[in-house]
Amino acid sequence: MRRPVQIAPSVLPVDFSRLGDEIAALDAAGVDLVQWDVMDGQFVPNLTFGPDVIASARRHTDLPFEAHLMVLTPDVMAARYVEAGCSRLIVHVEACTHLHRTLEHIRTLGATAAVALNPATPASAVAHVLDLVDLVLVMTVNPGFGGQRYLRTMEPKIAEVRAMIDAAGLSGTVDLEVDGGIGPDTIASAARAGANVLVAGSALFRDPEGLEHAVTELRAIATDAVAHGSPG
Ligand code: DX5
Repeated sequence: MRRPVQIAPSVLPVDFSRLGDEIAALDAAGVDLVQWDVMDGQFVPNLTFGPDVIASARRHTDLPFEAHLMVLTPDVMAARYVEAGCSRLIVHVEACTHLHRTLEHIRTLGATAAVALNPATPASAVAHVLDLVDLVLVMTVNPGFGGQRYLRTMEPKIAEVRAMIDAAGLSGTVDLEVDGGIGPDTIASAARAGANVLVAGSALFRDPEGLEHAVTELRAIATDAVAHGSPG
Protein backbone atom coordinates (compact mmCIF):
# COMPACT_ATOMS: atom_id res chain seq x y z
CA MET A 1 0.00 0.00 0.00
CA ARG A 2 1.53 3.33 -1.15
CA ARG A 3 2.00 5.93 1.59
CA PRO A 4 -0.47 8.86 1.57
CA VAL A 5 -0.15 11.91 -0.66
CA GLN A 6 1.69 14.75 1.07
CA ILE A 7 2.16 18.35 -0.07
CA ALA A 8 5.48 19.91 0.92
CA PRO A 9 6.18 23.59 0.27
CA SER A 10 9.57 24.77 -0.79
CA VAL A 11 10.30 27.91 1.21
CA LEU A 12 12.34 29.47 -1.61
CA PRO A 13 9.54 31.91 -2.64
CA VAL A 14 8.74 33.21 0.88
CA ASP A 15 9.41 36.74 2.08
CA PHE A 16 12.46 36.08 4.26
CA SER A 17 11.98 39.37 6.09
CA ARG A 18 8.86 37.73 7.60
CA LEU A 19 10.05 34.14 7.75
CA GLY A 20 8.27 33.15 10.95
CA ASP A 21 4.93 34.50 9.77
CA GLU A 22 5.38 32.82 6.37
CA ILE A 23 6.07 29.43 7.97
CA ALA A 24 3.03 29.84 10.22
CA ALA A 25 0.94 30.71 7.16
CA LEU A 26 2.09 27.54 5.37
CA ASP A 27 1.14 25.54 8.46
CA ALA A 28 -2.29 27.19 8.55
CA ALA A 29 -2.73 26.46 4.83
CA GLY A 30 -2.53 22.74 5.57
CA VAL A 31 0.85 21.60 4.24
CA ASP A 32 2.15 18.29 5.59
CA LEU A 33 5.81 19.25 6.14
CA VAL A 34 8.25 22.00 5.17
CA GLN A 35 11.14 21.54 2.76
CA TRP A 36 14.20 23.77 3.16
CA ASP A 37 16.20 24.09 -0.05
CA VAL A 38 19.75 24.35 1.26
CA MET A 39 22.16 25.49 -1.46
CA ASP A 40 25.90 26.12 -1.04
CA GLY A 41 26.70 27.93 -4.29
CA GLN A 42 29.01 25.02 -5.21
CA PHE A 43 26.85 21.96 -5.84
CA VAL A 44 24.26 24.30 -7.42
CA PRO A 45 24.71 27.86 -8.77
CA ASN A 46 22.72 29.45 -5.95
CA LEU A 47 23.19 30.17 -2.24
CA THR A 48 20.35 30.02 0.29
CA PHE A 49 20.31 29.52 4.04
CA GLY A 50 22.30 27.90 6.82
CA PRO A 51 21.05 26.00 9.87
CA ASP A 52 20.60 29.15 11.98
CA VAL A 53 17.88 30.43 9.62
CA ILE A 54 16.02 27.12 9.91
CA ALA A 55 16.45 27.11 13.69
CA SER A 56 14.87 30.59 13.83
CA ALA A 57 11.76 29.23 12.09
CA ARG A 58 11.48 26.07 14.19
CA ARG A 59 9.34 27.65 16.94
CA HIS A 60 6.75 28.91 14.44
CA THR A 61 5.32 25.49 13.60
CA ASP A 62 5.23 21.90 14.83
CA LEU A 63 5.37 20.56 11.25
CA PRO A 64 8.27 18.27 10.31
CA PHE A 65 11.21 20.00 8.61
CA GLU A 66 13.27 18.32 5.90
CA ALA A 67 16.52 19.79 4.63
CA HIS A 68 17.18 19.22 0.93
CA LEU A 69 20.96 19.47 1.04
CA MET A 70 22.05 20.70 -2.36
CA VAL A 71 25.61 20.95 -1.07
CA LEU A 72 28.99 19.43 -1.94
CA THR A 73 29.79 18.32 1.61
CA PRO A 74 26.65 16.93 3.27
CA ASP A 75 28.64 14.89 5.81
CA VAL A 76 30.23 18.04 7.21
CA MET A 77 26.94 19.93 7.61
CA ALA A 78 24.46 17.17 8.50
CA ALA A 79 24.65 17.47 12.30
CA ARG A 80 24.02 21.24 12.23
CA TYR A 81 20.78 20.78 10.26
CA VAL A 82 19.53 18.13 12.66
CA GLU A 83 20.35 20.41 15.61
CA ALA A 84 18.43 23.19 13.80
CA GLY A 85 15.27 21.06 13.89
CA CYS A 86 15.27 19.03 10.67
CA SER A 87 13.99 15.49 11.19
CA ARG A 88 14.87 14.39 7.64
CA LEU A 89 18.00 15.12 5.66
CA ILE A 90 17.98 14.62 1.88
CA VAL A 91 21.42 14.20 0.30
CA HIS A 92 22.24 14.04 -3.39
CA VAL A 93 23.72 10.87 -4.86
CA GLU A 94 25.94 13.10 -6.97
CA ALA A 95 27.51 14.79 -3.90
CA CYS A 96 28.32 11.62 -1.95
CA THR A 97 31.50 9.65 -2.62
CA HIS A 98 30.35 7.13 0.03
CA LEU A 99 26.56 7.42 -0.11
CA HIS A 100 25.90 4.33 2.02
CA ARG A 101 28.13 5.66 4.79
CA THR A 102 26.59 9.16 4.59
CA LEU A 103 23.07 7.78 4.97
CA GLU A 104 24.16 5.65 7.92
CA HIS A 105 25.78 8.75 9.47
CA ILE A 106 22.52 10.73 9.15
CA ARG A 107 20.65 7.95 10.94
CA THR A 108 23.17 7.99 13.81
CA LEU A 109 22.32 11.68 14.24
CA GLY A 110 18.72 10.71 14.99
CA ALA A 111 17.25 11.98 11.71
CA THR A 112 15.72 9.97 8.91
CA ALA A 113 17.83 9.75 5.77
CA ALA A 114 16.71 10.41 2.20
CA VAL A 115 18.42 10.48 -1.15
CA ALA A 116 17.91 12.74 -4.20
CA LEU A 117 18.58 12.10 -7.89
CA ASN A 118 19.37 14.89 -10.34
CA PRO A 119 17.67 14.58 -13.75
CA ALA A 120 20.61 12.85 -15.47
CA THR A 121 21.22 10.34 -12.64
CA PRO A 122 19.68 6.88 -13.18
CA ALA A 123 17.31 5.26 -10.70
CA SER A 124 19.78 2.39 -10.32
CA ALA A 125 22.00 4.73 -8.26
CA VAL A 126 19.73 4.15 -5.23
CA ALA A 127 19.17 0.41 -5.73
CA HIS A 128 21.51 -0.59 -2.88
CA VAL A 129 20.50 2.00 -0.27
CA LEU A 130 16.70 1.70 -0.19
CA ASP A 131 16.99 -0.08 3.16
CA LEU A 132 18.63 3.03 4.66
CA VAL A 133 16.15 5.70 3.53
CA ASP A 134 12.56 6.72 4.23
CA LEU A 135 12.32 8.80 1.03
CA VAL A 136 13.71 8.98 -2.49
CA LEU A 137 13.55 12.37 -4.22
CA VAL A 138 13.40 12.41 -8.01
CA MET A 139 14.23 15.94 -9.17
CA THR A 140 11.95 17.14 -11.97
CA VAL A 141 14.11 20.20 -12.63
CA ASN A 142 17.84 20.81 -12.52
CA PRO A 143 18.38 21.98 -8.92
CA GLY A 144 19.21 25.54 -7.95
CA PHE A 145 16.18 27.67 -8.65
CA GLY A 146 12.42 27.79 -8.24
CA GLY A 147 10.02 28.60 -11.07
CA GLN A 148 11.53 26.23 -13.61
CA ARG A 149 9.67 24.08 -16.14
CA TYR A 150 8.66 20.56 -15.05
CA LEU A 151 10.66 17.88 -16.88
CA ARG A 152 8.10 15.33 -18.08
CA THR A 153 10.99 13.18 -19.27
CA MET A 154 11.57 12.32 -15.61
CA GLU A 155 8.29 10.38 -15.38
CA PRO A 156 9.76 7.04 -16.54
CA LYS A 157 12.37 7.43 -13.80
CA ILE A 158 9.66 8.21 -11.23
CA ALA A 159 7.89 5.01 -12.31
CA GLU A 160 11.16 3.06 -12.14
CA VAL A 161 11.90 4.23 -8.60
CA ARG A 162 8.29 3.45 -7.60
CA ALA A 163 8.71 -0.07 -8.98
CA MET A 164 11.99 -0.49 -7.06
CA ILE A 165 10.37 0.63 -3.79
CA ASP A 166 7.38 -1.66 -4.33
CA ALA A 167 9.52 -4.64 -5.40
CA ALA A 168 11.58 -4.26 -2.22
CA GLY A 169 8.40 -4.41 -0.15
CA LEU A 170 9.01 -0.85 1.08
CA SER A 171 5.93 0.94 -0.30
CA GLY A 172 4.55 1.26 3.25
CA THR A 173 7.73 2.82 4.65
CA VAL A 174 9.51 4.69 1.84
CA ASP A 175 8.10 7.83 0.24
CA LEU A 176 8.75 8.89 -3.35
CA GLU A 177 9.09 12.67 -3.57
CA VAL A 178 9.29 14.89 -6.64
CA ASP A 179 10.48 18.48 -6.68
CA GLY A 180 10.45 21.07 -9.43
CA GLY A 181 7.75 22.60 -11.57
CA ILE A 182 4.95 20.93 -9.61
CA GLY A 183 1.61 22.69 -10.04
CA PRO A 184 -2.01 22.03 -11.02
CA ASP A 185 -1.01 21.13 -14.60
CA THR A 186 1.81 18.72 -13.70
CA ILE A 187 1.02 17.13 -10.33
CA ALA A 188 -1.43 14.53 -11.66
CA SER A 189 1.05 12.89 -14.01
CA ALA A 190 3.82 13.00 -11.41
CA ALA A 191 1.52 11.28 -8.90
CA ARG A 192 0.28 8.79 -11.49
CA ALA A 193 3.91 7.95 -12.32
CA GLY A 194 4.47 7.01 -8.67
CA ALA A 195 5.18 10.08 -6.52
CA ASN A 196 3.36 10.49 -3.21
CA VAL A 197 5.21 13.48 -1.71
CA LEU A 198 5.02 16.54 -3.94
CA VAL A 199 7.13 19.62 -3.39
CA ALA A 200 5.77 22.90 -4.69
CA GLY A 201 7.16 26.39 -4.41
CA SER A 202 6.02 28.93 -6.98
CA ALA A 203 2.70 27.14 -7.64
CA LEU A 204 1.68 27.68 -4.01
CA PHE A 205 2.55 31.36 -3.90
CA ARG A 206 1.15 32.37 -7.29
CA ASP A 207 -2.38 31.05 -6.64
CA PRO A 208 -4.64 34.14 -6.68
CA GLU A 209 -6.99 32.39 -4.26
CA GLY A 210 -4.23 32.00 -1.68
CA LEU A 211 -2.09 29.35 -0.05
CA GLU A 212 -4.87 27.23 1.44
CA HIS A 213 -6.64 26.98 -1.91
CA ALA A 214 -3.39 26.02 -3.63
CA VAL A 215 -2.54 23.32 -1.09
CA THR A 216 -6.07 21.89 -1.09
CA GLU A 217 -6.23 21.87 -4.89
CA LEU A 218 -2.84 20.20 -5.33
CA ARG A 219 -3.61 17.53 -2.74
CA ALA A 220 -7.00 16.80 -4.35
CA ILE A 221 -5.55 16.48 -7.85
CA ALA A 222 -2.71 14.22 -6.69
CA THR A 223 -4.99 12.05 -4.54
CA ASP A 224 -7.43 11.62 -7.43
CA ALA A 225 -4.61 10.80 -9.83
CA VAL A 226 -3.31 8.08 -7.52
CA ALA A 227 -6.78 6.68 -6.82
CA HIS A 228 -8.22 6.82 -10.32
CA GLY A 229 -5.27 7.33 -12.62
CA SER A 230 -6.83 10.52 -13.99
CA PRO A 231 -4.99 11.98 -16.99
CA GLY A 232 -2.10 14.31 -16.19
C1 DX5 B 1 15.25 23.47 -7.15
C2 DX5 B 1 14.31 23.75 -6.02
C3 DX5 B 1 12.90 23.99 -6.56
C4 DX5 B 1 11.92 24.29 -5.49
C5 DX5 B 1 10.51 24.18 -6.03
O1 DX5 B 1 16.53 23.32 -6.63
O2 DX5 B 1 14.32 22.64 -5.13
O3 DX5 B 1 12.51 22.83 -7.25
O4 DX5 B 1 12.08 23.43 -4.44
O5 DX5 B 1 10.35 25.26 -6.89
P1 DX5 B 1 9.13 25.32 -7.94
O6 DX5 B 1 7.96 24.61 -7.31
O7 DX5 B 1 8.89 26.79 -8.12
O8 DX5 B 1 9.63 24.62 -9.16
